[in-house]
Formats: sequence, C-alpha cells, structure tokens
Amino acid sequence: MAQKIILDVDTGNDDAVAILMAGHHPAIELVAVTVTHGNAVHAVTLPNTLKAVSAGNLAHVPVYPGAVVALTEDPKPSSGLNGRVLDLPEPTVRPQQQHAVDFLREYYHGPDGPQTIYVPVGPLTNLALALRLDPGLARRIPRIVTMGGAYRGGGRNPAAEFNILADPEGARVVYNAGIPILMVGLEVTEQALVTPADVERLKAIDTPQARVAAAVMLDEILWMIQEYGWDGGQIFDACAVAEIIEPGLVSTTPMWVDIEVNGSLTRGRTVADISGRTGRTSNVDVGIGIDRARFVEIMIEALSVIRQPTIRPHTA
Ligand code: RIB
Ligand code: CA
Repeated sequence: MAQKIILDVDTGNDDAVAILMAGHHPAIELVAVTVTHGNAVHAVTLPNTLKAVSAGNLAHVPVYPGAVVALTEDPKPSSGLNGRVLDLPEPTVRPQQQHAVDFLREYYHGPDGPQTIYVPVGPLTNLALALRLDPGLARRIPRIVTMGGAYRGGGRNPAAEFNILADPEGARVVYNAGIPILMVGLEVTEQALVTPADVERLKAIDTPQARVAAAVMLDEILWMIQEYGWDGGQIFDACAVAEIIEPGLVSTTPMWVDIEVNGSLTRGRTVADISGRTGRTSNVDVGIGIDRARFVEIMIEALSVIRQPTIRPHTA
C-alpha cells in the first residue's frame, strides 16, 4: 500500500526533484502539494511548482497556494521577480482556489488525515498557521518528515539552516506541537551528494520526470562544486522523500529540539540536546546519517518509473 503524503514546498530546484520523486515512485501516493514562500517569494515558488508538476507528468496532483510571508513578518510587496525562476516550460496546470492552510485543516480532519505523512521541505509557515487556527489538528497528523534544521551547526549562516531561518516562529510552533517529527537536516544532506555522473545516469533514463530532474539539478550541482569545492551537490529535499520511499534510509537519534527565535546571532537555530544532558524528553528523531549510494539508487528508481497518472477528480 503506497504511503500517502502531502508535500509542502518552496520550489527551488531541489523541491522540484522532491516533487518528481514523490509523484512517480510507487511507494508514495502524492495526495497534494502545498506551496510556501522561501527559496523565492511565493509569486515565484508557486509558478515554479506548477512548472515542475506540469513538466513532470503530474498534472493530476493538486497544487495549493500558501503562505506568502513568515508568521511574524510584515507582508512585503513581492515584485514576483526576485528569487530563482525555474527554467522550465510555462505550466499547463492551475493552482487550486483553496488556500493551503484551509486545505490542510479540511484534509487532516477527514478520513485519510491520520494515514497521511506531512512532508515540509521549506519554511514551516503553512502548518504553523493551520496549528494556530486549529490546535487540535496536531492530533490528526500522524508524522512529519521534514527537510530542515541542523543539529550541530548552521547552513545559511553559522547558526541556522535556511528553512528554519526563513520562519523561526513558525518552526517553533511546529516543533512544539507534539507531532512526531523526523528531521532530515544538513548533517544528512551533506552526506548525500549527487555528482554530475549521477545526473548523466538520470539523463540516460529519458522519462519525462528524469529529464526535468536532470535539467533542474545539473547547474545547481555544478555551482556547488565550483562554489564550495564539494564532490557533488546537495539535493536537500530529495533526501526527505527518499526516507518516505525507504523508511530507515536516514539513520536517526532521538533528541530534544527547540528553535531559537531571539538570539541576535543564533535566531533560527535548531537547538538540539545531542548528549541528552538536559533531561528533556526528546521530541524529534534527528537524522544523523544516510547511505549515499542507496539514496542515489532510490532517486533513479523513482525517476525511472513510467506510471499512468491517476486521474483524481479534484475541484480547481
Ligand atoms: O537549506 C536547504 C533548504 O532550503 C532546502 O529545502 C532548499 O530548497 C531551501 O528551501
Ligand atoms: Ca525547499
């Protein structure tokens, strides 16, 4: 039985790969994609998501527009121009009319809610807003598998990983809601580098989703190799989806984790009790390792699948 998931994205290149893997691998039923601000303003992440869904042969997957700013941020006029526009053909699908937050509340109070893992791979604003409106929702969400955070250090700055830094208050609401969380942080994604040779293997697959994934990955990977001297690129969000496809792929340790929101130098840090010395009950299964070769094989498996899209009636 395929695992139902809702994927929450701030589409950028790696989110697009996560969408393609989740949409095509038979181990996953991609119920819906919800969109948030993050890698770019929402006016860019939404069309980027629609492009990935359209080009990746996933037109049957509903896409819900979501939060345009972080929980405590003042709305900024979004020019819609800044941030990375995905270099893919214009989308052939439209977003749902319903807002992501309203969709999440309706869906998780429905019959399939308790069987559906929530997979946020961007800032956590959508779920934070839903929980603020409806605290009881936390009892309906069975598990969160999220790309975000870093239990040892930072990412976007010395203290914080981007998805958490983009909305620390939102992350704090989610990490304190009592929902079981598996955190796929930077210490995991840095062990799962994808190389140009891996991308060449993807190109050889020649399915629609493999072509799109190779197209959106290669430049990003070459940039990381050039900029950081790595052996490959981090396709961050794909690691979270790979864990859904093969539970246990990411090795974890239970830790107490909370989010720093005040520190002038540490705002956005996922503060993790690595040693267990605080005596606080662990609330997060923190990713500490991943088998890179197996991760790449899972990515290739997902992007090789030729699956007739299930036509699911959904209202636009
Ligand atoms: O820090 C990496 C994360 O930030 C990824 O989810 C990437 O897409 C960006 O959202
Ligand atoms: Ca992301």
